[in-house]
Amino acid sequence: MNGEQLESVVYASNMGSYEQACKRFQWKDVESHFTWSRTGKVNMAHEAIDRHVYEGRGHKTALLYCDGQREEAYTFMQLCMESNRFGNVLRKYNVAKGDRVFIFMPRSPELIIALLGILKVGAVAGPLFEAFMETAVKDRLEDSGAVAIVTTPELLGRIRRDELPELKHIFVVGDCSSLDDGSLIDFKAEVNQASYEFEPEWLDREDGLIIHYTSGSTGKPKGVYHVQNAMIQHYYTGKVVLDLQEDDVYWCTADPGWVTGTSYGIFAPWLNGVTNVIRGGRFSPENWYRTIERYQVNIWYSAPTAFRMLMGANEEILDKYDLSSLRHVLSVGEPLNPEVVRWGWKAYGQRIHDTWWMTETGGQLICNYPQMAIKPGSMGKPLPGIEAAILDDEGRELPPNRMGHLAIRTGWPSMMRKIWNNPVKYDEYFRFNGWYVSGDSAYMDEEGYFWFQGRIDDVINSSGERIGPFEVESKLVEHPAVAEAGVIGKPDPLRGEIIKAFISLREGYQPSDELKEEIYGFVREGLSAHAAPREIEFKDRLPKTRSGKIMRRVLKAWELQLPTGDLSTIED
Ligand code: PRX
Repeated sequence: MNGEQLESVVYASNMGSYEQACKRFQWKDVESHFTWSRTGKVNMAHEAIDRHVYEGRGHKTALLYCDGQREEAYTFMQLCMESNRFGNVLRKYNVAKGDRVFIFMPRSPELIIALLGILKVGAVAGPLFEAFMETAVKDRLEDSGAVAIVTTPELLGRIRRDELPELKHIFVVGDCSSLDDGSLIDFKAEVNQASYEFEPEWLDREDGLIIHYTSGSTGKPKGVYHVQNAMIQHYYTGKVVLDLQEDDVYWCTADPGWVTGTSYGIFAPWLNGVTNVIRGGRFSPENWYRTIERYQVNIWYSAPTAFRMLMGANEEILDKYDLSSLRHVLSVGEPLNPEVVRWGWKAYGQRIHDTWWMTETGGQLICNYPQMAIKPGSMGKPLPGIEAAILDDEGRELPPNRMGHLAIRTGWPSMMRKIWNNPVKYDEYFRFNGWYVSGDSAYMDEEGYFWFQGRIDDVINSSGERIGPFEVESKLVEHPAVAEAGVIGKPDPLRGEIIKAFISLREGYQPSDELKEEIYGFVREGLSAHAAPREIEFKDRLPKTRSGKIMRRVLKAWELQLPTGDLSTIED
């Protein structure tokens, strides 16, 4: 498979040749773009939005929003003004630099305005995916000590205010008239009264920007904390990986509840001043192709599961829509199958460019660049300025074609700066001196292309969404029928993996399909739809270590009918 290549069409690119770029690249050349090089201070919202107004691009379209019901366009000037107003509202309620302010709502222009306002006062934004249910919301707000949240009337009921003493303010976007509660703040009414005049909080490069919660294999979700400095990486990768050019229309399909939806759905495109499409509402091949056609999207960033769903759709749909505006197509979040790359080439006349990175890395690190030959199935090569390697279990670099830990030399601009409240977890990533250890296994071929092999830990990747088995198991055992639960990722042709739960029942409960349904619904309602196990298998007992830990490795081996390996630590 290594040998097969799809040669690149060399279209306009911001990088020149990959090899040349690696030689001459210096981060300080990118840094000079930002205000701090002149004033010592910076603010992401200023760099992404306001500066375009000051530089004469105020009337350029920044945002094209649609969701099937609403369709709205905003210029950079409008986003600047509206976020100024929300910044004033936040200041009125004494929300200030360093405070954590969450956003829990479906995609909408208000979500964007809220996020920009939060950044303008120097607060740290915490975006939450709208599908999160009570427990998932509470865990995240509690851990981060959030002081405020922006939400909608529909989602309000999932915020357990009585259990969150630090949460002082709830801004509600939508009709508040039926909400008989004086402590709620009407977002629109307040914004409409606020002044357009606003001076952003000027920050240091190491001041906070955003917290994204993500899953590991043990414990509750981790609050991955990023700082303003990440903008260097967002801006740079926007140029050389997304290939953003002045007149481009760009669409990233990810929700801002995930890191792709902020780093590449908001920051990278606007730092580069391009017109950015945000689509709310549900996925359907028709909706998506219509969006590309209607806005003449040039650059499209999506994910393997979506491409696989599009590949599975009726072929005639492709003839119905004009997708010829597309110039560059990219993917992230899970392994991109070679067949999908080949199909993309046929269907769109485009190579789908895979990119690899993680919530923790804040931005893209290993990618296929516009001017590089693509090897279908490979994640590409490290960015100029990035050193990647494959390490053995002792942290020694391995030669080409040997599988090991995918690691990145520390010090790139958008690297997370902490795990909120959890220095021990943070340090685990840096256990080999000078390296960030990703938790992915991979190998590098002789030509320097990296090939993803799997996760080293038990983290599940379903439709590009990262799910920690522990969080699901914790929810499962809250169900009265469940004595013990172990959760694994089961390979699935469409979603990459699905969640499968092995469950032992408490005395008095009998296995049945109804019980499976009920347990599925319990996780769905308590945590979120994407965390609910699509498959459940009842077992009398689950394999455990002597210290009582469920051995997911053994569950996985059962599932895949593989040898169970070393069982020396098993209970009996
Ligand atoms: O296992 C890798 C997989 O997704 C993980 C990171 O997930 P998350 O933090 O949610 O970020 C997703 C968006 C950046 C990685 O550890 N992953 C990400 N990109 C790829 C990938 N697996 C294979 N190929 C990729 N291109």
